[in-house]
Amino acid sequence: KRIKLIEVRSELGAGTRGASLGVDALKIACLNKGSDYFRRFNSVAVPDLNHVLFDKNHFPYAKHIDSVYTVEKGIANTVEQTLRFGEFPLVLAGDHSNAAGTIAGIKAAYPYKTLGVIWIDAHADIHSPYTTPSGNIHGMPLAMALNFDNLELQRNEVEPETEFFWRRLKNLGEEGPKLKPEHLVYVVVRDTENEEDEIIRRSGIKNFSLKEFKAKGPKQIAREIYERLRFCDLVYISFDVDSLDSRFSKGTGTPVEEGLDVQEAISLCHALLDNERVVCFEMVEINPTLDSENTMASNAFDILEAATDTITERLRIEDATSRQESG
Ligand code: ARG
Ligand code: MN
Ligand code: MN
Ligand code: MN
Repeated sequence: KRIKLIEVRSELGAGTRGASLGVDALKIACLNKGSDYFRRFNSVAVPDLNHVLFDKNHFPYAKHIDSVYTVEKGIANTVEQTLRFGEFPLVLAGDHSNAAGTIAGIKAAYPYKTLGVIWIDAHADIHSPYTTPSGNIHGMPLAMALNFDNLELQRNEVEPETEFFWRRLKNLGEEGPKLKPEHLVYVVVRDTENEEDEIIRRSGIKNFSLKEFKAKGPKQIAREIYERLRFCDLVYISFDVDSLDSRFSKGTGTPVEEGLDVQEAISLCHALLDNERVVCFEMVEINPTLDSENTMASNAFDILEAATDTITERLRIEDATSRQESG
C-alpha cells in the first residue's frame, strides 16, 4: 500500500489571503532541508477556483460558497478514487474547508463503515452560515459533515442562495450526516465562539486541552482517544497548523496562543498514526505570505515528515503481514 499526496491549493474558505501557497511552501521547506520527501510519493492536484476571489462575493454568511461547493466535489472524488485504488490519501490543503470534501470522499469509498475523526486545531470549525461570525467557510467543515445547521443558535439572516449551496454541501457524497458527534474528538481546541461552545456542550464532543495533553502525554492521550473511537471502523486525522502555539505558527491566518510545540505535535501524530484504522491524514492552513522566514512551513514539514514515516512503517508492516497470510 502506498501513500498518495492530494494537493488542494484552494483558499476560498479562509479570511486572510495566502493559504493557497501553503502546499508550495512545504515543498520549499523540503528542498531547503535537503529532504527527498516530495520525490518519494505520487501526487495529484485537485482543481481550485481561487480566481473567483477577484469577483464580488455574493454570500456574506458563507463566502464564495458556490465555488467552494465545486472544489469540495473535486476533493471528495479524488479522496474516494485514491482509497478505492488501495492507496493512503495524505491531503495537503490550503484552508480547512477542504475537510468536508475529504470526509465525503472517505464515506463514499466506505459507505457501510463508521468513521471517527480526530481534529487537531485551535478552532472547532463547527459553525454554520446561521452562526458564523465571519462568513469564512473554513470555520464550517465539521457542521457540514455532521449535518448540523445550529438553527437554535441562529444569529445571521441567511439568504436562500446560500441555503441552497449549504444544503448541497451537507449532502456531499452520501446524503445526510457522515459523522456522529460522539465519533469526533478535538485536540487543543481553544479559540471558539459562544455558539460553538454551546454546540460542543450539547453534543458532548470531547476536547483534549493542552493542559490535559501535557499532564498525560501523547501515548495516554492517543489511548483515550481510541477508547472513545472504539466503535469506529475507520479514522481520519485532520491537522490544522494553528494547533501549534502561535510562536511556532506565525505563517497561518488565525494563530492562537497556548498550543502545541513542534515536538509535541510530532509525538502526538506518531502516537495517533500508529493505528491500523487510520485511513487518511491531512495538514492545512499554512500561509507563507504571513511569515517571511517560512518557519511555519519548516515546522509543518518536520511534523509532516515524521507523521509520514509512521504511516509508511505501518503500511510496510501491514503489507508484510498480508503477504505472509496469503503466501
Ligand atoms: N471561528 C472563527 C470563524 O468561524 C475562526 C475559524 C478558523 N478556522 C480555521 N480553520 N482556521 O471565523
Ligand atoms: Mn461571483
Ligand atoms: Mn481549522
Ligand atoms: Mn484553526
